[in-house]
Amino acid sequence: MMLASDVSVADLPARIGDERVLTGPLDHDALATGTLSVAEMIAAGRHLFVARFTKADGAGRPAATAAEVPTRRQLGDTPAFHRTSGPDANACAGCHIQQGPGGSGDFAMNVFVAPQDMEWAFDSVAPDLSMERGTTAIHGAGLLELLAREMTRDLQAQRASAVAEARRTGDTVRVGLASKGVSFGSLAVDPDGFLDVSDLAGIHPDLIVKPFSQKAVTRSLRQFTVTAFNTHHGLQATERFGTRWTGGADFDKDGVADELGPGDVTAAVLFQAALPPPRQRLPDHPVLRAAVEEGERLFDLVGCTSCHVPALELESALFTEPGPYNPPGTLGTADTDAVVAVDLVALWPERVTRSANGKLLVQAYTDMKRHRIADADRPHFANELLTQNFVPRDQFRTAPLWGVGSTAPYGHRGDLTTLREAIQHHGGDATAVRQAYDALSPDDRAKIIEFLKSLKIEG
Ligand code: HEC
Ligand code: HEC
Repeated sequence: MMLASDVSVADLPARIGDERVLTGPLDHDALATGTLSVAEMIAAGRHLFVARFTKADGAGRPAATAAEVPTRRQLGDTPAFHRTSGPDANACAGCHIQQGPGGSGDFAMNVFVAPQDMEWAFDSVAPDLSMERGTTAIHGAGLLELLAREMTRDLQAQRASAVAEARRTGDTVRVGLASKGVSFGSLAVDPDGFLDVSDLAGIHPDLIVKPFSQKAVTRSLRQFTVTAFNTHHGLQATERFGTRWTGGADFDKDGVADELGPGDVTAAVLFQAALPPPRQRLPDHPVLRAAVEEGERLFDLVGCTSCHVPALELESALFTEPGPYNPPGTLGTADTDAVVAVDLVALWPERVTRSANGKLLVQAYTDMKRHRIADADRPHFANELLTQNFVPRDQFRTAPLWGVGSTAPYGHRGDLTTLREAIQHHGGDATAVRQAYDALSPDDRAKIIEFLKSLKIEG
């Protein structure tokens, strides 16, 4: 992808009648050597996020499904667009738009997730065929990914030292896993290296903290972005759909080869990582301000903060792309030495808070893990009948609440119009906390709502 400013006058005749919105790949290796400034890379990524892709760009995937692993379509004639099986949109910003490009989406922007093969969803949106999800906001995602990387590093180091200790002592070692004050259960290691993972909490046995998707199954913005380009637009990135993995350059058979290069994906990721984090906006009027402050105290008092942890400390805000934990099919540090590095704090210094000891605070109101959030008494959040990546159906990621005052509708399906409904549907592991909330006076519950309303995304 080139920027408009790169087009020389001599190129103009060839562009007459050209309906591509992409004009050729950005080179990831060149980006890593600084050919574009940070602002230019983010601008290029923004262009990719808002562009309405065309057939001439390679939009559409007549021979491929939406599945994360390159998969052939079995059906014959398929429509160019299909609201459930996709391609289902013209631009990323077609859905992520409520607070500007990168924002959350209306119920009309819901996605029907069926990771194995979206062909199922052609005939029906019934929950036994697809999982319906509301469009989340991406603001602050760069900081969430950095937190996840640091937490993954900590947990895997704890496992490694337990393995070493079990080997050295010849005894089974049980180790508690925790990072940044958040517990992920425990692990038992036998001297022969066998791991008992039955007491892990809120994380897969790979011990990779996955910050993205409401099911917490996606490791990085890059992994999500490559999937989203294919799912929603039929634009296939070479790092997953190219010759290396599929033996050809046009896996989706739409006549356009190598639709997105690694540099394009890098730019799209940087745009998203650079979206400013949400923050609290205190109301001007002292009465409302006092209510927000009291609501924040009550939010802690009843135990909401046991999952919606107000702030986690981040060691470094240097966002390096690609990241260290990407799976095959998503460019990772195992594939390339060329790394683009952006200091996120330098992008919005006024949004960053520090702890008393100078550590950076990410005030996202999440513990970065999954919880059982529904049960027979409160079944609303267990509406899905399919299992995504073997996460139990009643478990979801602790929703980051830092922009919740801007992102209605609520809940993973986006089917709740008020914050109080979202709270009322907390069951499972949140039952005792919800009961403590219910036991408050109506005025005190209103103050908690007023506090949540103060957590804002400003584009
Ligand atoms: C048809 C609507 C739609 C389009 C188009 C769309 N998204 Fe999304 N996006 C969603 C929904 C719905 C979710 C929540 C998915 C989930 O929770 O499983 C989401 C989640 C995400 C997330 C994870 C955010 C989080 O909170 O975990 C990222 C990153 C993302 N989208 C990037 C993109 C990019 C990049 C594009 C374009 C290539 C794109 N999206 C296009 C609807 C859309
Ligand atoms: C056991 C952990 C846990 C506790 C305790 C908890 N939550 Fe949550 N919360 C979650 C999870 C998980 C979700 C995601 C639910 C879904 O959509 O699937 C969530 C979602 C939410 C949402 C909806 C966010 C959105 O963007 O849609 C709000 C609002 C919320 N919680 C507020 C609260 C309040 C207020 C309390 C205290 C009364 C509380 N939570 C206690 C885990 C918890």
